[in-house]
Amino acid sequence: MCGIVGYIGDKKAPPLLIDALKKLEYRGYDSSGVGIVVPGDGNIVLRKAHGKIQNLQNLLRSKPFPDSSLGISHTRWATHGVPNKVNAHPHRDCTGKILIVHNGIIENYESLKAALQKKGHKFVSDTDTEVIAHLIESHYKKDLLAAVQKTIKQLKGAFALGVICSDHPDTLIAARIGSPLIIGLGKNENFIASDVPAILEHTRKVIYLKDGQMAKLSKDNVEVFTFAGKSVKPKIDKVTFSLDAVQKQGYAHFMLKEMHEQSDVLKQMVQKRIKGNTFHLEELSTLDKELKNITNIIIVACGTAYHAGLVGKYVIEALSGIPVTVDVSSEFRYRNPIVGKKTLVMAVSQSGETADTLAAIKEAKAKGAKIVSICNVIGSSIARESDGVLYTHAGPEIGVASTKAYTAQLCMFYLIAAKLGVVRGVVAKKDIDNVIQALKHIPALYKKMLKTKNAIARVARSNAHFGCFLFLGRNVNYPSAMEGALKLKEISYIPAEGYAAGEMKHGPIALIDEYRAVVCIAPESDTYEKMISNIQEIRSRKGKVIAIATEGDEAIKKHATHVLYVPKTHKLLTPLLVALPLQLIAYYISVKRGCDVDQPRNLAKSVTVE
Ligand code: AGP
Repeated sequence: MCGIVGYIGDKKAPPLLIDALKKLEYRGYDSSGVGIVVPGDGNIVLRKAHGKIQNLQNLLRSKPFPDSSLGISHTRWATHGVPNKVNAHPHRDCTGKILIVHNGIIENYESLKAALQKKGHKFVSDTDTEVIAHLIESHYKKDLLAAVQKTIKQLKGAFALGVICSDHPDTLIAARIGSPLIIGLGKNENFIASDVPAILEHTRKVIYLKDGQMAKLSKDNVEVFTFAGKSVKPKIDKVTFSLDAVQKQGYAHFMLKEMHEQSDVLKQMVQKRIKGNTFHLEELSTLDKELKNITNIIIVACGTAYHAGLVGKYVIEALSGIPVTVDVSSEFRYRNPIVGKKTLVMAVSQSGETADTLAAIKEAKAKGAKIVSICNVIGSSIARESDGVLYTHAGPEIGVASTKAYTAQLCMFYLIAAKLGVVRGVVAKKDIDNVIQALKHIPALYKKMLKTKNAIARVARSNAHFGCFLFLGRNVNYPSAMEGALKLKEISYIPAEGYAAGEMKHGPIALIDEYRAVVCIAPESDTYEKMISNIQEIRSRKGKVIAIATEGDEAIKKHATHVLYVPKTHKLLTPLLVALPLQLIAYYISVKRGCDVDQPRNLAKSVTVE
């Protein structure tokens, strides 16, 4: 999510704004900028840079700010318009006197932009945000607060705003609905920020602006109003958290925070794309003709994204009848793959920057394939290289171990599989509808599962001493077994292997003794009885079994050492649910072992090298 900081006071604004932005880096971003009002000459000075804040600081070495005590700054997580300097905030109006920073999405920006352009406004960026600056300009008659109030009435969507104007060197305006914004109260200085970490070194006295509220700040006064202009007496809170805790919003680790965000991430995906009994994937609508004629699909990805692709294979074949193969990108790109003009290649990548996956789609493109990618980072290299891109909008994923991005990828595959199924028409529409209707309930089931995390923690901690884990699954949960193993090994450094349960007799069963723990993914399915047999084979050789089963399954308790339950759902959707206990098992074992959960040794969040 974007980060906003504003300052008005006695200190020098530019260095303070940049330092404060750095405290918001954890929110994830792809560009940054600072804008100030120069006292006396009434000028606005703006400095912006693509990439890390360091790039902005490097720019300031050659183009330093003049002194100023009023400014706004921003770290941008792109939603509309690729990450670059032009699209970075702050944005300004035609006169250059009004400057704004924004966090959120303006849903009606296109119509507003068209109307403003008709009136002669000139836009320089592809962002939704820039519309706000021009709207304020169109209402501005010297009263900045009134102009912002009029503007807000026209905006649809979520926004947190910071606004300054060169005519008002003693005023900073803030407003919010749907995106967080706080006010920091200092001595002869006041602040606005997206989150507490940005201002914690300056003040612990904060006002958490509520939705539908705006504020007018001077260096020694803060007035809060409703959007209708009614004065409000705000509650002043005292921040007691440490800086580190606040960035994680009270969670012990980013990974834990992001596991908890999965319900909301899935909810926004489902609500945005499933309306009643219909669902839509606009991003693929231009490819309808091609999708009708493709003969096969190849999914390329790495790591967790590869496991999402393996689940994608099962669900796409089940709902559309199109043959799917899945390849790790580093293998695909070097095996001279057989790719034709009727092959659809799908890349899956949270970062959109994984070098092997980027190279894989370039190779496929050169062979004539159409490329569709599933990415989380807007405007990333893989997204830009693709013919179509489906963004998961899971928000920045800070923990190196992918959690919410993975389940968002799975959710996207169910939607793609349904879309292909409808386009191809080889599977009964009601079967597709059953999956889609079941998908709508998944976010609520996540909230329900999270209530069982203490039980999962107990089981994880009581098995944290094992030196080796096996994860077993069948059919659509074979990839879940691989993902569970990857989660555990990458954050706890315990050797762990994910296997197709049917392969036990072909080798892995030799591993089983009282020193092994085996996680068996055994929800209700056509292969449930086979999983019970696997569990019995393991237990008869003294292996410990942690079973993941469907709520209400009492029988499995006779066989497994521990049983963790997931709610009942469509059998194709169980990978979405079992992902959470698998993530939490890895998390609690890693914490028990004192490992660095968010930054595991040797790993990077995005493998941009081969
Ligand atoms: C997953 O927990 C790992 N961090 C890693 O396997 C990751 O999934 C892989 O590097 C792919 O990254 P991407 O999704 O950004 O392409």
